[in-house]
Amino acid sequence: MPAAHAASPTLHDPLPLASGQVLPNRIMKSALSEGLANADNAPDARLERLYGRWSRGGYGLIVTGNVMVDRRHCGEPGNVAMEDERHLAALTRWARVAKDGGAKVWVQLNHPGRQANPIVTRNRAVAPSAIAMGIPGVPAPRALTEDEIGDIIARFGRAARIAEAAGFDGVQIHGAHGYLVSQFLSPLSNQRTDAWGGDADRRRRFVIEVARSIRAAVSPGFGLGIKLNSADFQRGGFTEDESRAVLEELSGEHVDLFEISGGSYESPAMMGRPRTASASTRAREAYFLDYAETARQAAGGVPIAVTGGFRSHTAMSEALAAGTCDVVGLGRPAAVIPTAAADLLDKRTDALRPPHISLGLPPRLAANGSLKSFDGALDLQWHTDQLHLIGAGKDPDPERSPWLTAVTMLRRNGFDAFRSKRAAAARTAADRAARKFRVERTMGRYVMNPTVRALDKVGIRTAFASEIETVGRKSGAPRRVPVSLLFDDEGAWAICQHGLRSGWGRNIAANANVRVRQGDSWRTGTAVLLPDDDVVARARTFAPHPALAPLARGVIAALESDPVTVRITFTDR
Ligand SMILES: Cc1cc2nc3c(=O)[nH]c(=O)nc-3n(C[C@H](O)[C@H](O)[C@H](O)COP(=O)(O)O)c2cc1C
Repeated sequence: MPAAHAASPTLHDPLPLASGQVLPNRIMKSALSEGLANADNAPDARLERLYGRWSRGGYGLIVTGNVMVDRRHCGEPGNVAMEDERHLAALTRWARVAKDGGAKVWVQLNHPGRQANPIVTRNRAVAPSAIAMGIPGVPAPRALTEDEIGDIIARFGRAARIAEAAGFDGVQIHGAHGYLVSQFLSPLSNQRTDAWGGDADRRRRFVIEVARSIRAAVSPGFGLGIKLNSADFQRGGFTEDESRAVLEELSGEHVDLFEISGGSYESPAMMGRPRTASASTRAREAYFLDYAETARQAAGGVPIAVTGGFRSHTAMSEALAAGTCDVVGLGRPAAVIPTAAADLLDKRTDALRPPHISLGLPPRLAANGSLKSFDGALDLQWHTDQLHLIGAGKDPDPERSPWLTAVTMLRRNGFDAFRSKRAAAARTAADRAARKFRVERTMGRYVMNPTVRALDKVGIRTAFASEIETVGRKSGAPRRVPVSLLFDDEGAWAICQHGLRSGWGRNIAANANVRVRQGDSWRTGTAVLLPDDDVVARARTFAPHPALAPLARGVIAALESDPVTVRITFTDR
């Protein structure tokens, strides 16, 4: 164990890692998502300017903001993505500038899973299971297939290889804050029953395979770290016991450094829990030290960094001297004071004092749920604004009024800004989907349905263009809508294009009794919605004949409106 014994370590002490690299001191710039990549998800001069400032900031280790392993799934607008070598020259410039001051520089690799930002992620979000986040308006993800899981694991390895080729010193797996790796770990978001879920061992498998994929892709001297939650702070979620079990297993996978954080965008513990923090936590500043103490044994010889809340030289030095952690991580202070580490090490300051970002409303108002989450989003956005200032070649502006950020957020997102940052973005996408749904419903009502009826009247009737009769939820009266049906001996398949947003979908959910028209006769049956069915594959079975392919494609194109497969089973025979 590198700490706590012999002479007490100090912030100045170098830290040798298992890969052979040595961190020049114990202060780490933790990952801060910059949102400064260009439209092609590549770094440009703005990221170089920002990292140029941090490289002269005295840090022992600089971890970049999260970099995506799949550009089709981004956590925020402006994420860098590393999928192949198309941007190797730009990545190499970024690495060179960041390393210029002597810090080791690691790239944080991430896949957002169900926390993908809907504004920049056109594809449907993916996750271990098709379970939506507990944030209103965020669309439900679809469950990953085994092949897709293998592909993502390989992508982490490939991204690490590109990072090494660009000249970075290592990578850090983002295993915290509710993104894909932590979605696999949490029983709330991973309810698979195959080799990737079902019990804690199998939920851990994804992160272990990601670590192995990275190690297999890079040279032994390349650094590997992981940022892991102590817990996800949600009832029934990932616990501290499970977190320790992950550390124990990963300690056998040639990992150089564990970074401890906690929470997710549903429960953002990583940004502080001042109301619930114990007196000892308040005195020690960092929120996850109590957990870090209990994680030592599980971590084996792998050093531990703790991030979240550290502000003073005293608290940082005491945590190192007590052997509670080996590295201190700084997030928000580094956004406002790029030279935070050097200022502490050279004793230019005793404590970093980044402003507390809040609207500063009276406590009664501030306790209101919406205003509280607005404050959380404001905190993130205000610090992102600082990164953008530095990226533009200016100085950070600690005096920047939070109200200025608030007005920008409101202008951009309207009242949705009162939800969390991610939720606000999701809301905008949900609005787009709702608009699309309204257009399609109008088309269906006033164009498609009358056309089918007119064809029907002149005797052009196909099994494909048929009808379903459901029981009206409110009226109890029969409701008929034109629908495409694919019959077999036991019943029929249908695709409810708008799932539970369509009237007939909701009718079925309330009352399974239906009638469907097969040619000229009406059949009786029961219908169930099958949200787990692969609706794209199902839509294709509707069009075995090439002439019908455009129709099937139309159904597939409607995916954005959450179509759901419906199975009707005849009960009249
Ligand atoms: C603007 C902003 C962006 C962040 N982006 C990331 C990120 O990309 N990856 C990550 O692991 N944590 C991210 N975090 C969390 C920080 O790394 C850190 O855990 C958190 O800010 C708590 O540390 P602090 O109290 O020193 O700020 C971000 C925080 C902020 C304020």
